[in-house]
Amino acid sequence: MKTYTIPVIPGDGVGPEIIAEGKKVLEAAGRVHGFNIKWREYPYGAEYYLETGELIPEDIFNELSNYRAIYLGSVGDARVPPGVLERGILFALRFFFDQYINLRPIKLLAGVQTPIRGKGPEDIDYIVVRENSEDLYVGVGGRVKRGNAHHDADVIRSLYNVKFGLDIDSDSDEIAYQVGMISAEGTRRVMQYAFEVATKRGGHVSSVDKMNAMTDIYGLWREIFDEVAAYYPNVKTDFNLVDAMTMWLVKNPEWFDVVVTPNLFGDIITDLGAMVQGGLGLAAGGNINPKGTSMFEPIHGSAPKYKGLNKVNPIATIWAGAMLLENLDEGPAAMSVMRAIEQNLREGKIRTFDLGGTSTTAEVGTDIAGHVEKPE
Ligand code: IPM
Ligand code: MG
Repeated sequence: MKTYTIPVIPGDGVGPEIIAEGKKVLEAAGRVHGFNIKWREYPYGAEYYLETGELIPEDIFNELSNYRAIYLGSVGDARVPPGVLERGILFALRFFFDQYINLRPIKLLAGVQTPIRGKGPEDIDYIVVRENSEDLYVGVGGRVKRGNAHHDADVIRSLYNVKFGLDIDSDSDEIAYQVGMISAEGTRRVMQYAFEVATKRGGHVSSVDKMNAMTDIYGLWREIFDEVAAYYPNVKTDFNLVDAMTMWLVKNPEWFDVVVTPNLFGDIITDLGAMVQGGLGLAAGGNINPKGTSMFEPIHGSAPKYKGLNKVNPIATIWAGAMLLENLDEGPAAMSVMRAIEQNLREGKIRTFDLGGTSTTAEVGTDIAGHVEKPE
């Protein structure tokens, strides 16, 4: 029998609880579809960092590169300053493996309430292709102030002064900057991916930017969008400024099919999308390098206040697990996991508190695993 080894990083907060259910369901899918899964657990996260001072050791990246898919719970812990775990674990993995696509399906499943009045599952079914390595996330920035010498402090201060006709001197005001950058190549590959997804779905592609205010960076984004669109004459396209986009995603979600977006806007609109599809407990994502090591995770965080309570919804993580199976070319297994999630939600008997139920995390996982093994 075929065996997959899958590295898993449960992480912080509720991470271990939700990952346990994801594993349960994926193992069930393996039994039905004829493959074994060997999990390879990694301890990285807040606890490990606080004990050892290490985030992810160097050599582990190389080790992980032997695998096609990593299963991630969530990272984040109040005992560690914001940004440390996010950068040192989440971004480190996304960037090291060049997972340049962040794929986030926004789909309202039957039996789930959306907060959008008058809309149902037939209206809410789009997929966000978020660029996952560039834009404001490139990590180019700095703070220029007295006592915190920046290598280019004088250059930056004088540029700023010249541009704004100011006279900020080195002993007083502070300047902070964070630069957004995109590359033609980095944009092209995301666009290509989005158009391929749209071709498979028989749908259209909506691009998001803020070209009216930031003409350089999003000017290039639009040019590349047009360039790639020309290769897909049968795929319809449209542009949306991100502010208007947040409006349309609430007012007319049925307009959208594949949404391709720069990194930061994608971060923002997918939380909006998560709410529209019924909450963070249902929103899954994949960080994808189509030719390398990808990583699948719920889009929610570690929810520390629920840690250890066996209370949160594992469906986002199980859904991410279905995406992981798809990535391993186990399409039918991925499909059974999705059908099992749908059955659980349609029946509406075993659900966690976020969906108005009283069941535990583990009960939901067991129910879904049961539906995988005995589909209706
Ligand atoms: C996400 C998260 C991360 C991001 C955070 C945790 C840094 O919000 O995956 O959407 O901004 O990418
Ligand atoms: Mg986010």
